[in-house]
Amino acid sequence: MKKALKILLKVVGIIIFLAVISGLGGWWYINSTFLSFEKDYAENIDIKELTIDGYTFLDRNGNGKTDIYEDDRKTTDERVENLLYQMTLEEKIHLLKGSGIGSAMGKGGTAVPGAVGTIVPTPRLGIPTIYLSDGPAGLRIEPKREGEDRTYYCTSFPIGTLLSSTWNTNLVNEIGTAMGSEAKEYGIDVILGPGANIQRHPLCGRNFEYYSEDPVLTGFIGAAMVNGIESQGIGTSVKHFVANNQETDRNFNDVIVTDRAMREIYLKGFEIIVEKSQPWTIMSSYNKVNGTYVPERKDLMTDILRDDWQYQGLVMTDWFGGDNASAMIAAGNDLLEPGTRRQWKALKKAVENGTLSEEEINTSTRRILKLIVQSNKMHNYQYSNNPDLDTHAKIARQSATEGMILLKNKQTLPIQKGKNIALMGVTSFDFIAGGTGSGDVNEAYTVSLEEGLKNAGFEINEKAKQVFETHKSKYKKEFVKPEGLSAMTTPYFPPRMAYTIDELKAIVTSSELGIITIGRNSGEGGDRVEDDDFSLSEKEQNMITKVCKAFHAAGKKVVVVMNIGGVIETASWKGQPDAIILAWQGGQEGGNSVVDILSGKVNPSGKLPMTFPINLNDHSSNANFPLEGATYNIMTLMFASREEKPENEKVKNKDYTDYEEGIYVGYRHFDKAELEVSYPFGHGLSYTTFDLSNLNVTMKNDTINVMATITNSGSFAGKEVVQIYTSKPDTKIDRPLKELRTFAKTKSLNAGEATILTLQIPVSELSYWSEEASQWILEKGLYSIQVGASSRDIRLSMEVEVN
Ligand code: BGC
Repeated sequence: MKKALKILLKVVGIIIFLAVISGLGGWWYINSTFLSFEKDYAENIDIKELTIDGYTFLDRNGNGKTDIYEDDRKTTDERVENLLYQMTLEEKIHLLKGSGIGSAMGKGGTAVPGAVGTIVPTPRLGIPTIYLSDGPAGLRIEPKREGEDRTYYCTSFPIGTLLSSTWNTNLVNEIGTAMGSEAKEYGIDVILGPGANIQRHPLCGRNFEYYSEDPVLTGFIGAAMVNGIESQGIGTSVKHFVANNQETDRNFNDVIVTDRAMREIYLKGFEIIVEKSQPWTIMSSYNKVNGTYVPERKDLMTDILRDDWQYQGLVMTDWFGGDNASAMIAAGNDLLEPGTRRQWKALKKAVENGTLSEEEINTSTRRILKLIVQSNKMHNYQYSNNPDLDTHAKIARQSATEGMILLKNKQTLPIQKGKNIALMGVTSFDFIAGGTGSGDVNEAYTVSLEEGLKNAGFEINEKAKQVFETHKSKYKKEFVKPEGLSAMTTPYFPPRMAYTIDELKAIVTSSELGIITIGRNSGEGGDRVEDDDFSLSEKEQNMITKVCKAFHAAGKKVVVVMNIGGVIETASWKGQPDAIILAWQGGQEGGNSVVDILSGKVNPSGKLPMTFPINLNDHSSNANFPLEGATYNIMTLMFASREEKPENEKVKNKDYTDYEEGIYVGYRHFDKAELEVSYPFGHGLSYTTFDLSNLNVTMKNDTINVMATITNSGSFAGKEVVQIYTSKPDTKIDRPLKELRTFAKTKSLNAGEATILTLQIPVSELSYWSEEASQWILEKGLYSIQVGASSRDIRLSMEVEVN
């Protein structure tokens, strides 16, 4: 017995010993590979100001002289060249990768907790650390810091999809400016956004971060955002370049796609953004394209981006993206984020054995130095940690209101203030501000629909509220919101509600209008599924049917508010409610914004940036998309093997996805296939009506000028979006029936007021990408210029001859 006990104790001891050793070993590995491998490269913050010959500057290298790179009277190029000249080869290599994911934890002197990456400092030359932070709906940093009473909340602006639904580039520019100034005041140098991937399929979990199924809308809105943010001396990182259209196996997925679809659809939005805004940085995507990781593709990183488009900024990887460090630098992906020790060693080795030339290192280093020299840090800007959150909240509210879309209105809206409103569905009380993952924002509050209604002087129906409270207390655990990392990875989704006949009776009699909110949430690392996500659950269907019946029987109306981040099925139920507002996820002021529309304080003017299909399967991409969904797995990101699987082991839509539909994405497909849709691309109602007239199309200097008059012919002031599509009726090749080329939004027009809009389309934009010639080709002959209020509501058209 004693002996057995001894053996047992020994075994337990050995197990504990091994566990401690492997724990320590594991920690050592993680720490030295991902967290803290910088050693001699801690930022030099002891820099003195000097005045020589009347010029005051920061003596960054402490040599008591004015070096060219320290002199802000010199041009950026001169300063960059001087820096490059002064740097050792090791310092240059060091600059090509970030300082590790540890920077996200906010360790060290100038660190900003919650920033996710850095451009490393060069202490010998006094070059500062550059901080990179997410993302598309506002800055994502940690709101609380150890040992401090104060908070560092950021404004949660509406999601990207809502912003593109405004079709208002001036407004998006204003939001960008606000976001940029928030970054500036919190000491962040580059915002990792906007997202410019095409919404190829409705179930991509990150669609909410992206703008549209159409590249022109994506490009125009994206450029406005970049210009806004960068007006504050803050860089952007337009992501994820390119063809990152699903989250399932995003780190390895190989996109099989034609050059034509790449050029006309997936690259086009990025191309427009580069042309209109020259972003400081672009983020390459995780996926492969036709067999090779995007950041390792020289054709994408250099030939297209730099040679064809004249892009002047730097390209960074997505976090832990790509495989071969030196192949990425050689291809033109200048910066590896967040950086690992392994990459640093690999780069050094590649230089030693000649795989990577000094010239290649210099090219990338130059681009990185340019960003550093342009940054607020190099201008010694002293940030306040006090951005104007109040003003930004107002901008968030205004922009959310402008991007919400009125899908249906049977003489119901707007409603008079003071009415008693019965709120139904969990999300009415628990509004969703935005999606999860790196596109999330740590905001101080989210205004729910209930709060928004109260703020505007509506009465909240007590009975409906009580049913919600009872439901909430029954599912206490499910109503606890995830925090920290799990808030990033797990969309919060409390159980949905059902109403008994008696409850409904009591609600209907005591209220004047019913509002049902349908909520959806998704995010990075996961894709959505059809059942109970794209399609309404049975509970939701029943709720809509029962509520509408009960209210209608009493002569009262029902409004459905969709608080969602991506497309859902609408065809089966849209006939039942009297009005439908697509509110998207409106950021922290979402509830107030919906009420601005409900009350008529603002006339809705949002338009759909994508098609709402009748069936999911109507999308041509549905044949090649991972329909089983996926969940976020951070371990795969950091540790999974990048080794190529044998062909016969590759799983469709996971290891590879075939973009068989080619250029037929979104409305391009629905139009060509003559499919009915639930709501077409570009659709959105208003409380007034607009007439389009006096179309005039002329051609001058290879530019098509389109002029049209828009008149507010109703009785409510409001804005209208004018969409210009083109088509080539007698085309010799396979082309979409129509394609959006440009658009504009009017100012608010009073009832009866008219305005003339003038828009330009460069003739070259009518070209298609020829696979045979491997270039853009402009077909000669007649083109039809179509002016519409949606892709399926063309009001005027005229032909123009292209010679
Ligand atoms: C995301 C990027 C993000 C980065 C840093 C990645 O997982 O794909 O969009 O900017 O993390 O948070």
